[in-house]
Amino acid sequence: MDLSAEHIKNLHKYEIRVLQSIEYLMTRYSWVPKDEIIHNTRFSAGETEFRLSKLMEKGMIKYSQVPYSGYTLVFNGYDTLAISHLVKKGIISSLGSCIGEGKESRVYEALGTGPVILKLHRIGQRSFQTVRKGRSYLPEKQHCPWVIASHFSAEQEYLALCSLQNHVNVPIPLAMNRNVIAMTYIAGDKLSDCTLENPQEIFEEVLSQMQEAYHRGYIHGDLSEYNVMYDGDKIWIIDWPQWISPSHENAGEILDHDLQTITKFFQRKYRISSDKDEIRSRVTGC
Ligand SMILES: Nc1ncnc2c1ncn2[C@@H]1O[C@H](COP(=O)(O)OP(=O)(O)O)[C@@H](O)[C@H]1O
Ligand SMILES: [Mg+2]
Repeated sequence: MDLSAEHIKNLHKYEIRVLQSIEYLMTRYSWVPKDEIIHNTRFSAGETEFRLSKLMEKGMIKYSQVPYSGYTLVFNGYDTLAISHLVKKGIISSLGSCIGEGKESRVYEALGTGPVILKLHRIGQRSFQTVRKGRSYLPEKQHCPWVIASHFSAEQEYLALCSLQNHVNVPIPLAMNRNVIAMTYIAGDKLSDCTLENPQEIFEEVLSQMQEAYHRGYIHGDLSEYNVMYDGDKIWIIDWPQWISPSHENAGEILDHDLQTITKFFQRKYRISSDKDEIRSRVTGC
């Protein structure tokens, strides 16, 4: 079921309270027993049951009888908690439509003081194991690895956007809660969807942005024509959750992959050829 702006808007405050309660209890249970929710919310059994059934209807929680009877949040519920928080803090006042759905994220238009983008990070169980490989500090045992992984992914992207702000052309990060980042809307198109009049200039600009990011400690890690936008004046680099530091043991390999992807694109679409070693030393400065 899709996350619907209407569902979020019409959410009763008791339903938010039940979602929060399940979220909290999920640190102790894979499936949260109804009695625990009643105890935690201090709602009556009837009220709790009614709110649980509403949340089930809206596709925000799931119920199972196996291995024992209980409830758990699903992505729609977790996203809802984050978005409600951003509404409460005044970051956004309305949620628009979904403009992008990738393997590990959903992107929505929203309205705040201006047009805002909400990026909902949604990392499933399998990706979490890949993410965990290089990061020993992520907990081994947790009932809900997708919650941790999605929150972690949003944190990583938010950190990059905050650090690169004013130095590299990235969307301005406005706020983050749980797995959701609010950022400014870029009024442009992906390079994959543009026909550039000045491709050589834009290619140089991508390299110079990569160089600036590199010197500030960031290698994008997923650079491609799909993650660079052009607004007719400037280019913007988006989609940073998988950045790594130039001091990471795989930095050389990952930087080469980024460079190869972007140079291949300019070669294929605009016949711009470039020397791999020269480009690499331009970005790294050595
Ligand atoms: N700040 C933004 N302004 C405008 N469009 C955006 C912005 N961020 C993302 N998008 C759109 O959403 C799509 C997906 O976002 P992205 O961050 O690349 O996530 P992913 O590729 O991991 O799904 C982008 O290709 C772009 O079309
Ligand atoms: Mg992308």
